[in-house]
Amino acid sequence: MKINNSSERVIQYLRGLIAGQKGGSRLPSVRALMGTLHAGPATIEAGLRRLVEEGLIEARPGQGTFIATPPSAPGVTSATDLDWQTMALGPARPTADALAELASMPNPGALALNAGYLPEALQATALLTGAATRALRRPGLWSRHAPEGLETLRTWFATASGAFQPHEITICPGTQAALAAAFRALAAPGDPVLVESPTYVGALAAARAAGLYPLPVPIDADGLRPDLLAEAFRASGARLLYCQPTYANPTGAVLTTDRRAAVLQIVQRAQAFVIEDDWARDFPLDTEAAPAPLATHDAGGHVIYVRSLTKCAAPGLRIGAIAARGAALERLRAARMIDDFFVPGLLQEIAVQLLIAPAWPRHLRTLRSALRARRDALAAAVRAQFGIQSLPHLPSGGLHLWVRLPEGVSDLALSEHARRADILLSPGRHWFPAEAPASYLRLSFAAIAPEAAPGVMARLGSLLAHRFS
Ligand SMILES: Cc1ncc(COP(=O)(O)O)c(C=O)c1O
Repeated sequence: MKINNSSERVIQYLRGLIAGQKGGSRLPSVRALMGTLHAGPATIEAGLRRLVEEGLIEARPGQGTFIATPPSAPGVTSATDLDWQTMALGPARPTADALAELASMPNPGALALNAGYLPEALQATALLTGAATRALRRPGLWSRHAPEGLETLRTWFATASGAFQPHEITICPGTQAALAAAFRALAAPGDPVLVESPTYVGALAAARAAGLYPLPVPIDADGLRPDLLAEAFRASGARLLYCQPTYANPTGAVLTTDRRAAVLQIVQRAQAFVIEDDWARDFPLDTEAAPAPLATHDAGGHVIYVRSLTKCAAPGLRIGAIAARGAALERLRAARMIDDFFVPGLLQEIAVQLLIAPAWPRHLRTLRSALRARRDALAAAVRAQFGIQSLPHLPSGGLHLWVRLPEGVSDLALSEHARRADILLSPGRHWFPAEAPASYLRLSFAAIAPEAAPGVMARLGSLLAHRFS
């Protein structure tokens, strides 16, 4: 069956409908779908046929199209007594609700201002298609691969870090996996881990899942406060810090040069490790290059360095790297191998082919200028709507704005009401390891074309004006 872009849009829309409804529910008629989706009958029917083939819906001649009822295992019904599971599973584990919310798939047409990745319009789609085609011709693609990853890819990450040798790099299926392994490998359940407050929700979830206790260390516009960091190490006895020195997610803060030296010194004195999450290295928006990684100043094996490729290429290219030295490297390698042996060769080869493509640097340049325009437009719209105090500093890199909401406005309530209007927001409180000192939103400026920014903020403003009524 020939599927074009419009049919894909129809399919995506229908998948959203199916996900939100029970089996047996009737789908809107072809005519109604034509109206909703502004598509012709052939496009709608091609989309419906695809989902019939996938077994997700069934066409009943003369009656319409219905959501299929998935077969359940023999004897298991919604009335089956599963209480034994409650007994077997025991006490609750740390939840990752905030992360699940970020990772959930938006309805087609929704404005995903909560996104942590590039929208399709900015992804390196054409380059990835070329890279995948070349990768498929590589020998040994389907064989077993080394747990540490392809030598060529490790060499690329090592050179790009400016601090590590290829043998110190381990390739991971995204840096979320790298963080999860690092928290498990470098600390024991019950240990504290110091984190910036606020910090990346995925890191908080991974640390908690490893049985660690994230302890907040406040930041200001220049990143982590060294005075408080030293005190936190002293008071907690922690041996691990997770930090994003460059364009931190969610605030965009950059640790100043002086503070980089101070943080490293404090970490060394505490005989501790610091996980440097360098997720936004490819997104400097006001300078040619991001500041050198903390790792480039570390002579003692204290820095565990993490860098992602999914962020600057496309979320589906789940490739990242983690670097370490000494016994920490051995422990990390072991933790990664236990998880999934190795990252599939095809994905690693695609990453290599992408990074050596002559057009890759051009993609990054174009991307940065598009992101700069999006940041400026959304920041102007935010300030017009909420005042300059909502966004006193423009982030000099990254993908997000960290917006302080007016006094008395709940981040949760606003996000919930915006969601009903198909605007997805990330409530600020999820990004704090403890209580949030004020109400914030993390907004992805990458998600909106510059010309759409004023309209989106006006919609949020009118939701606020009606106080969610
Ligand atoms: C700060 C930070 N670190 C790590 C990750 C994980 O990214 P990935 O697993 O796609 O490399 C994210 C994703 O949102 C992030 O924001």
